[in-house]
Amino acid sequence: MADLTHDHDGHSHRAHGHQHGHGNGHGHGGHQHEHDPAREAELAEMLDLDAELLHQPLTGVTEWLAELTTGQTVQSVLDLGTGTGAGTFALLERFPDARVTAVDMSAGMLERVRAKAAAAGLDGRVRTVEADLDADWPDFGTVDLAWSAAALHHVADPQDALRRLRALLRPGGLFALVEIDGLPSFLPEDLGLGEPGLERRCRAVVAARLAEELPYLGADWGPILTGAGFEVEPERRFTVELASPLPDPAARYARLVLARNRERLGDQLGAADLEVLDALIDGPGPENVLRRSDLLVRAERRVWVARRP
Ligand SMILES: C[S@@+](CC[C@H](N)C(=O)[O-])C[C@H]1O[C@@H](n2cnc3c(N)ncnc32)[C@H](O)[C@@H]1O
Repeated sequence: MADLTHDHDGHSHRAHGHQHGHGNGHGHGGHQHEHDPAREAELAEMLDLDAELLHQPLTGVTEWLAELTTGQTVQSVLDLGTGTGAGTFALLERFPDARVTAVDMSAGMLERVRAKAAAAGLDGRVRTVEADLDADWPDFGTVDLAWSAAALHHVADPQDALRRLRALLRPGGLFALVEIDGLPSFLPEDLGLGEPGLERRCRAVVAARLAEELPYLGADWGPILTGAGFEVEPERRFTVELASPLPDPAARYARLVLARNRERLGDQLGAADLEVLDALIDGPGPENVLRRSDLLVRAERRVWVARRP
């Protein structure tokens, strides 16, 4: 594990001492730097399934970046909020000369990134840095290409983060910002159980909840990036729609996402709907999403590519 930049002692480089185990006091209910290993393992599994099933947008965005950087050097790459490294590994594949600095505030996520890099023989090209983007940033050096996927909406002051990022990029350097457009969906309108439209109702409640907790979720990042001093390419959308026969992990992914949504619903959905949802998640028979044959996977990504002038 030569150069995984957990310095020389085998630990990941830890930038600034953020504290674990409690919210960070930035006042967003959802902006918690939670540190529950079971929860983190669940999120990690979800991110891995996400990357596996929804790899088309990753491929599409890195292809777009390759076009935009034709003839340029792409060696120093930064992935902010790397999670389990979906973006990091897609970028390593697309840019053979690149070394990626994968940043996250979660030590557990970075551990996973290092394990994957080592297993793929890519550890010499990945450096992990544990840092809270809400605190002072460590010195990342000059960056040719930056990337952040589904992470910036978790940061308390993304405008400030963008200004700091702009200062790191070399002139002409690019930043790809990938955001989810709503949560993925899986269920047909009529499940043959309960009242049709369950997932629509469920998503509406969850979306309202998340909008309160994460004000930048679903933002139009174009003007925000312009305001931070970037030149911005027209936004692109990448849609994934998978239908039967679905790849193997789709059912598990659906169950994980539905279960996470179920937790967020509280009592804001009718009792009959909650009962059906529980049956989909934990039912013993064919109603369970793990055994249904009518699932779909639909997801959308919005992508902005910004350039430091
Ligand atoms: C939804 S995940 C996305 C992970 C990955 N980019 C992907 O697309 O699969 C968001 C990640 O951002 C990280 N994150 C959230 N807030 C952060 C902050 N303030 N500083 C550093 N990382 C943060 C989380 O720990 C998590 O790993």
